[in-house]
Amino acid sequence: MSRSPSLPDTPKREIDTDLPDDERLEALLEHFEEVAMANEQLASQLDAARERRSQLKAQATRTERENEVLKSSSLYLATVEDLIETEVIVKQHGNNQEVLTEVSPQFAERIEPGDRVAVNDSFGIQRILSAETDARAQTVEITAKPDVTYADIGGIDEQVREVREAVEQPLAQPELFEEVGIDPPAGVLLYGPPGTGKTMLAKAVANQTDATFIKMAGSELVRKFIGEGSRLVRDLFEMAREREPAVIFIDEIDAIAARRTESKTSGDAEVQRTMMQLLSEMDGFDERGDIRIIAATNRFDMLDNAILRPGRFDRLIEVPEPDEAGREKIFEIHTRAMSVEEDVDFAELAAETPGFSGAEIESVATEAGMFAIRNGRTTVTQADFEAALEKIEAGDAEIITSANYFFD
Ligand SMILES: Nc1ncnc2c1ncn2[C@@H]1O[C@H](COP(=O)(O)OP(=O)(O)OP(=O)(O)O)[C@@H](O)[C@H]1O
Ligand SMILES: [Mg+2]
Repeated sequence: MSRSPSLPDTPKREIDTDLPDDERLEALLEHFEEVAMANEQLASQLDAARERRSQLKAQATRTERENEVLKSSSLYLATVEDLIETEVIVKQHGNNQEVLTEVSPQFAERIEPGDRVAVNDSFGIQRILSAETDARAQTVEITAKPDVTYADIGGIDEQVREVREAVEQPLAQPELFEEVGIDPPAGVLLYGPPGTGKTMLAKAVANQTDATFIKMAGSELVRKFIGEGSRLVRDLFEMAREREPAVIFIDEIDAIAARRTESKTSGDAEVQRTMMQLLSEMDGFDERGDIRIIAATNRFDMLDNAILRPGRFDRLIEVPEPDEAGREKIFEIHTRAMSVEEDVDFAELAAETPGFSGAEIESVATEAGMFAIRNGRTTVTQADFEAALEKIEAGDAEIITSANYFFD
């Protein structure tokens, strides 16, 4: 480190003691002036050094703070309310706390009121996020009317009946529940192995009721930034309120409602917060109006009991793998649009496919069609189905694994 401004030479002067008094006095005065001047220079240099020291100190504090910021991993979601030169007012999502905070020049140029930002514990802006509308659009899927109907679902008639009673009827005839004096179930949870028709069932309900169908996958709710997941949950219910009657469907709910684990990472905490928001939205049931909530999971064993409490998901409907009669029905459904030969025997195919889910039966039908095409035919025969079954049983490990999925 170089010592900036060099020190002035100390004035040195030999004063001849033999000089007459007046000359000696003059020389001394001259010397005094030189010393005084040097002193002044030194004083100003000292000032400059002091100033520089305080600058460096401020810089060090800033760097330290930035270092802290970088070290702390928890980020919160906030919206920029106002920008005044190098300071911004941000409003943290979740608690709506408004804070005036300094912003680094790097961000000051790019930030605009309304921007979503990620802030740390001390409200330092860490990142500018994509527009909120983007996040919403990516996550929430709104379909005015899904095209799945009950006629497309086979083998789970009892589950269809239960869902209709719990979701469709309260939407269609709310006065019935009022007269009898009971509250319809708050939320319906469909659970069971993969590919058994849970998502279909939720869609069919929405189709039947003219309700807006708002679908969100639990895995999409698990966001990176603190406050974002709960924000999305709030948006979800808000959107539903704007579009009543509506059916909110949360698929893969296990992603946000898994039982608490031992680990205490901030990611888990965020998932917890998202779940808490969901619970609080569900607890505000009275103001919810014409909104029904359906959730689905194939990991029932993982769910936190909190979401199963009365007033929340209090109607549990198990959607199992189809039995033989169910499989026959599903074969029929998935071959409705296919040109199938007279000889095709669905009862026999059903008997040959124990443990197959609806989704797997669908893929058998598609595969059979592929065999027909490969053999230059436009109609599908029993032999095509047998070949498809053989192929799937022999080769497709993935399908066999999920067919053997057991639920405890
Ligand atoms: N019971 C059924 N009747 C007719 N088709 C079915 C049935 N179950 C599943 N399928 C077929 O499998 C596909 C996947 O079903 P769906 O998405 O409803 O499964 P899921 O139970 O939601 O599975 P996951 O737990 O993996 O989400 C459907 O599009 C449909 O073609
Ligand atoms: Mg599904």
